[in-house]
Amino acid sequence: MNPWNHDVAKDEKDLVDVQVDGVWMQMPRGLNVVEVAHRAKKFIPHYCYHPKLSVVGNCRMCLFEMGTPKMGPDRKPVLGADGKPEIAWMPRPQIGCATGVTPGMGIRTDSALVKDCRNGVMEFLLINHPLDCPICDQAGECKLQEYSVEYGTGASRFTENKVKKPKNVDLGARIVLDDERCILCSRCVRFSSEITQDNVLGFVNRGSHNTLTAYPGKSFDNDYSLNTVDICPVGALTSKDFRFQMRVWFLKETKSLCTSCGTGCNTMIGSREGKVYRLTPRENESVNSHWMCDHGRLNFHYLESKERLTRPLLRAAGEQFPGTWVDAIARAAEGLRKVKPSEIAVVASGRLANEDLFVLKRLVDELGVAQVDMIQHLEQGDNFLRSPDGNPNSRGVEFLGLSSGGRISSGWGAAILSGKIKALLVLGGEDLVSAGVPASTLAKLETLIYSGILSNETSRLAQVVLPGAGFAEKTGSMVNVHGRLQRMTRAISAPGEAREDWMILRDLRMALTGGNSLYSVEDIWKSMAAEVPQFQGLNWAKIGDLGIQLVSSAKTAETKTA
Ligand code: SF4
Ligand code: FES
Repeated sequence: MNPWNHDVAKDEKDLVDVQVDGVWMQMPRGLNVVEVAHRAKKFIPHYCYHPKLSVVGNCRMCLFEMGTPKMGPDRKPVLGADGKPEIAWMPRPQIGCATGVTPGMGIRTDSALVKDCRNGVMEFLLINHPLDCPICDQAGECKLQEYSVEYGTGASRFTENKVKKPKNVDLGARIVLDDERCILCSRCVRFSSEITQDNVLGFVNRGSHNTLTAYPGKSFDNDYSLNTVDICPVGALTSKDFRFQMRVWFLKETKSLCTSCGTGCNTMIGSREGKVYRLTPRENESVNSHWMCDHGRLNFHYLESKERLTRPLLRAAGEQFPGTWVDAIARAAEGLRKVKPSEIAVVASGRLANEDLFVLKRLVDELGVAQVDMIQHLEQGDNFLRSPDGNPNSRGVEFLGLSSGGRISSGWGAAILSGKIKALLVLGGEDLVSAGVPASTLAKLETLIYSGILSNETSRLAQVVLPGAGFAEKTGSMVNVHGRLQRMTRAISAPGEAREDWMILRDLRMALTGGNSLYSVEDIWKSMAAEVPQFQGLNWAKIGDLGIQLVSSAKTAETKTA
């Protein structure tokens, strides 16, 4: 599968003169007119064209008026008073998505002919389209709605009955199709055949009865299926998870990252009143193009899990009771203070952000803790976006010098039993029991401190439980498996008394060593840029919305091979 399969501009250096709405400019030879208009800060409406899919030219919404240089009797272009070629305009409009620019081409995006054509196409597309807007999930981000306002006539001359089609078709595990709303642009069909290459979707029947369907015996179930909900220009394809949950105009959009694997796809978090409703991919050609996998997209419901930790817990008389942050930090500090530094071990986590890890690194160095590692979470990656590394920030742990290879489970159990490790600080919600350390072994520890967002076998054994913030509830940065540093931004507040990990670690450090002076992510970056070689010269603002490549692709390949 290849997300970057469509070269928009063949050669950015091979420029030709073109006239767009009366203004001459230079554009790459062969670039299609929809993209040319975009670069000229004009807009040509379109439905079927998508920059990452092949061009089929079937919606006809991108019609424009085209001209070619007027030729004189000597077969040379006739030049106007401005020294530029005069244009001979063709009487028939062309489709912009399938027309590449050539030298001297004239383009009109807004002439009377173009407006008339758009009116006609809109009227045609709406002939059989149901008036579902009040109950349609696409309302608010529907191209049919938007173009109706901008380019439609506002009235219909169609007096016949609309063609009825299936309205609630189960297309696959995560997608519902409303065939009446489909405008047959074929974006989803091309996604299935060109991007995920499972070739499940197609059209059947003719004329007004033309209908989208999954081929007999097939189901549209691949792990990228929900991308078709994003690229469907109308409300024909809806996500079972999001449909009827929230009107899109109520959603606050926050730029962030997917933290479900090491790729770190760029995302937009849609939230309202402290609740995340959806994650959608945010375009970044260096990471995920326009796409993300369904697994990552739907992996946010755990933020509202019943297992969510919302208050610090302290163990007394064999049971855990809610306590205050002051008591919890004091108890955790006391537990670490009463053993030697060589008897403390720390389970860092590739789920933590760089900022959390940096404060942890300071704490570990100041205490003189020698045993620090993280748990590897290996998953089944694919050849597209999903990485086999289930940790979103393994590279950050590595850059901050907090991992010796993720070998916790093999040696640490024996070290606890022999009494070499007496206190354990487990971060990032890691579960040592499922990583292979028996609960009976963990029960032998003098001090077990756990920080995470969900309770698990390890948290239930801890003397102190410190509730952390989930990915949508914290601001920080991570380095993906390809060495790209990227930012995540808090969209909602953490529930109850849960806090961002760097704050928890800062308070623990203050209680243990007196170290402080870190009050914001920007503060941490000032110190981190000075102390971590890979982050030298950077600050929070410089990372930007699309991240910064820290390690070249060649270096990444070397690291992978090693
Ligand atoms: Fe296009 Fe949507 Fe219909 Fe697919 S379902 S052909 S993307 S309008
Ligand atoms: Fe050009 Fe559909 S966008 S024909």
